[in-house]
Amino acid sequence: MDLRGYTKLSKEILLSRIEDVRRKKKLVILAHNYQRSEIQRTADFRGDSLDLARKATEVDAEIIVFCGVVFMAETAKILNPQKKVLIPDSNAGCALADTITSEELKEAKRKYDNPVVVSYINTYASVKAESDICCTSANAVKVIDSIPKNKKILFTPDRNLGRYVSKASNRELILWDGFCYVHDYLTEGDVEEAKREHPSAKLCCHPECREEVVAHADLVTSTNGMVRYAKEVDELIIGTEIGLGERINIDFGKKVYPLNTNAVCATMKLITLDKLCWSIENEKYEIRLDDEIISNAREPLEKMLQIV
Ligand code: 13P
Ligand code: SF4
Repeated sequence: MDLRGYTKLSKEILLSRIEDVRRKKKLVILAHNYQRSEIQRTADFRGDSLDLARKATEVDAEIIVFCGVVFMAETAKILNPQKKVLIPDSNAGCALADTITSEELKEAKRKYDNPVVVSYINTYASVKAESDICCTSANAVKVIDSIPKNKKILFTPDRNLGRYVSKASNRELILWDGFCYVHDYLTEGDVEEAKREHPSAKLCCHPECREEVVAHADLVTSTNGMVRYAKEVDELIIGTEIGLGERINIDFGKKVYPLNTNAVCATMKLITLDKLCWSIENEKYEIRLDDEIISNAREPLEKMLQIV
């Protein structure tokens, strides 16, 4: 049956077929915190980029199915080259990762006379392969702090995360001018409106948000950091992609308020139950990377994992 056939199956049938494959194959389903509720509920593990990268190295499975975006599935492949890594929709890109290519990075390295390159995990494998160390939103400050003070650092590709980390670590960084349209779209006006509507709620936001938003936050953290914070507080406004609200609802049965209900990552939502079922039954789409890229991209990722 081709993918179109799966779209006609009911949710119950899809779930039972997924369970069936799970019993027959040694596979693990990982889902990012922004995934649709039904995908997060079906996954073996939910988490942020750092958590899932670590999980990918720990699981005893022959097949890793990554419900997230392509750079995340690539990261799982780089860290587990001997395993089959699948993504249910190969068009699930990341607009932020698209803001830098390996050629552009090579050019910048020449321009700035070989700085230490710190690349956010939201980059494609070929960009990681040209980087010295990776970071995620959960460990970016620690990664910067690990680099000797006399070194010049080029931080790619998110300018908002870069600016936030530069302040937090009190370090001047050369910033790539990339941004995530979902987070950069959030404004101070959204903060004012949300606080008017929910005056007792705390505000947490992702460091990919603009400075004017971050300035009002009670906590700036990764998506997993927000999940932990949600457990502690009664009411929470989340300055990030709305799917995180699903994760918090699944874990604690708590309702949180999105800073803006339009904060939707379109490519995260490309992963649906019918595609997941099709993917695990047909073992598609397989992430395939060049051996040299894997070996060069692995180094900056492993350096990051050693630091945290
Ligand atoms: P986290 O690592 O905090 O989950 O963020 C990933 C991401 O893509 C944010 O837009
Ligand atoms: Fe990329 Fe932004 Fe989507 Fe995160 S929310 S995956 S940074 S486009």
